[in-house]
Amino acid sequence: MPTNLSILDDSQIQDHLKNHSLKIGVVGIGRIGLPTALCVANSGLETIGIDINKNLVDMVNSKDYPLKDEPEFDKIFDNVISQKKLSATTDINEAIPKCDVIILSLPTPMNNQNIPDYNALLTVGKNLHQLLSNGQIVIVESTVEPGFIENELLQSIEGPNKSLKSGIDFHLAVCPETANPGEIMKDFQNLPRLVGSIDEKISPIVSLLYTHVFGVELIQMPNCKTANAVKLTTNVFRDINIAFVNELALLFEKLGIDTHTVIDAAKRKYNFQPHFPGPGVGGPCLPVNSYQYLNSSKKIDENFLRIVQEARKINENMPHHVIDLLISAFDQSEKNLDNSTVTLLGVSYKPNVHDIQIAPSEQIVKLLNQKNVNLKIFDPYFISETVFEQKMKNSIDDAIDASDAIVIITGHKEFDNLDLEKISNSMNKPILIDCTGKINPLQAKSKGIIFRGIGRGN
Ligand SMILES: NC(=O)c1ccc[n+]([C@@H]2O[C@H](COP(=O)([O-])OP(=O)(O)OC[C@H]3O[C@@H](n4cnc5c(N)ncnc54)[C@H](O)[C@@H]3O)[C@@H](O)[C@H]2O)c1
Repeated sequence: MPTNLSILDDSQIQDHLKNHSLKIGVVGIGRIGLPTALCVANSGLETIGIDINKNLVDMVNSKDYPLKDEPEFDKIFDNVISQKKLSATTDINEAIPKCDVIILSLPTPMNNQNIPDYNALLTVGKNLHQLLSNGQIVIVESTVEPGFIENELLQSIEGPNKSLKSGIDFHLAVCPETANPGEIMKDFQNLPRLVGSIDEKISPIVSLLYTHVFGVELIQMPNCKTANAVKLTTNVFRDINIAFVNELALLFEKLGIDTHTVIDAAKRKYNFQPHFPGPGVGGPCLPVNSYQYLNSSKKIDENFLRIVQEARKINENMPHHVIDLLISAFDQSEKNLDNSTVTLLGVSYKPNVHDIQIAPSEQIVKLLNQKNVNLKIFDPYFISETVFEQKMKNSIDDAIDASDAIVIITGHKEFDNLDLEKISNSMNKPILIDCTGKINPLQAKSKGIIFRGIGRGN
């Protein structure tokens, strides 16, 4: 029988944590859930990772760590696995009744109409309805819109006739995850966490657990929807600000002003937060979170959050702007874009990660295919893989060889010191389009390269 933490006092819960006598289930052991499960296990608590992906479960159980692009991950993985504190399973029915606390780190993507898709959470909610008992605590780390926990997930766990009672048979809380891919282990140890719950006595218990596991500050929120609103606000703030600089970038290109010079100087003022222009905003968080807020607000009034609607339009238009820059460079070179060979550097939605979810590169590839361009793509995080139906090149030299133009899409660290001399010498009338701000326009031009950069007015 699981331990009912809600009837224990703080010191009894602390004893359970110190004695490692609690068992924690983490449902969804992907990009966020697996590092979470590892940290829980690393704190000494026995942990079961539960996932429908059998390959992933087999990998974890056979001590082969996924997430090879995540710094520090390998060390903690080896440590936890050698101490036998973490196991993984696909069998939710067997695992959940053994757990005192269940953490949900399930995906919350959106469909092709930009409507949030909460099916994974709702499916697991229905499973939990059959499996929970004795006041187990369920903590949702997934990112959801305000009100989803109270209005939808709670009901799916309670069941149609409320045969499972929230606050008695189980307790529901949220602790939205705010870590950044590529920096997850660092963020886990540094970022404060938000905690909210349906019945208020549960938040302090979640705080004790998370303090034990992560040792970070826990910010108590009055309820679940406020905690989820904080999480969305931080990401949507970025989406809007990136849209602002993207729009400035389009203007500054016309005005002959360099956007990066403006941002570098503007950030000297204490209350300016720098954001940078780019080929669009991708990943599983920012675009989805904007649409989650829009989904939430349109239930009240279509006109709410117009700034978010506009930001989405601006950011989603940026791949078209990349194509416009390329066309203008081809015009200047007097080469024909049709049937040309263009090299794309980087497909990840952000630097230094192996992740193409909602990546702007996908749209750029699609637009160039429509223009009958032959593509050669290199991404150091996807060597030899097939991405967007394109076989990736094995080396940057291979990708650049005999190309008409290069487009740097993702600012991977591997592209920090591109040899402009070599690029210039290896191409006929070389064209370079930089979406990342890494290339100094004057240096590129001094090598005889026809250069265009997002937001570069010179
Ligand atoms: N990746 C990020 O940058 C990031 C950062 C902060 C928060 N988040 C949020 O964390 C949540 C998880 O994101 P992620 O990036 O780890 O997703 P992910 O896709 O990497 O992992 C989700 C895992 O859940 C599993 N899964 C799906 N349906 C399941 C089911 N019914 N039962 C059991 N397992 C199931 C999948 O197989 C997968 O392994 C999302 O809500 C996301 O918005 C993500």
